[in-house]
Amino acid sequence: MDNNVIITGENISKIYQNGKNESFPALDNVSIEIPRSKLTIIKGRSGSGKTTLINMLSGLDSPTSGTIRMNDVCINEMNINELEDYRRIHMGFVFQSVALFPIMSAYENVDFALRLADYKDNRDERIKEAMSMVGIEERMKHNPEEMSGGEQQRVAIARAIAPKPDVVFADEPTGALDTENGIKVVSLFKHLIEKEGITIIMTTHDPGLMQMGDRVLEMNDGKIINIIDND
Ligand SMILES: Nc1ncnc2c1ncn2[C@@H]1O[C@H](COP(=O)(O)OP(=O)(O)OP(=O)(O)O)[C@@H](O)[C@H]1O
Ligand SMILES: [Mg+2]
Repeated sequence: MDNNVIITGENISKIYQNGKNESFPALDNVSIEIPRSKLTIIKGRSGSGKTTLINMLSGLDSPTSGTIRMNDVCINEMNINELEDYRRIHMGFVFQSVALFPIMSAYENVDFALRLADYKDNRDERIKEAMSMVGIEERMKHNPEEMSGGEQQRVAIARAIAPKPDVVFADEPTGALDTENGIKVVSLFKHLIEKEGITIIMTTHDPGLMQMGDRVLEMNDGKIINIIDND
């Protein structure tokens, strides 16, 4: 495998059955390569298959047919336990609805992720480092409800990157933010890629953000209809 490519998806299809037993191809024979240590942005209108694709690439959902390899490991051949173990170590997630634990402080939320990932080095040091990378170290002791939406999203990003995953998957991470704060989040992603060498794949609806990707994939009707490389 080309070392500049971290994920290869080949001929991925996902067919959903609706209530009337009709089949609907949410992904139609998609083949893609995700470049390592870059920001890949998936855009496309609502219903075009962005979430379905990102969920296939992370193994959160399994394809009807096709293969997904990450670092030369075939993730769609793993059983559920193997996949969970692999995900804990190698993948991070950021969602539109931030999903921090409300009764834990920002610090404790990040610490929780490190414990889950079995992080071996000094956790306290890494939490503070991750908090400072996202610019939220002053809010460390605050609970999520004491922070703005943008600040909560930055904590969620710190939590996703703290265990040093290979890849962070972010489905509409700026969906609850205005464009200005969305740009801050995407700029932060680019900073983290440079600093930590991680790979980030995100989806967005926001035309103000789309061109910020190193690679931009455009989807329509379950297919990738355009690929733009900006670097
Ligand atoms: N569990 C499901 N069962 C049946 N159809 C589904 C299911 N999940 C998604 N779909 C359909 O698959 C298509 C792609 O959905 P997907 O969520 O990937 O779109 P999307 O591009 O992420 O849209 P949005 O921008 O609104 O988030 C849609 O037409 C959707 O209705
Ligand atoms: Mg979606």
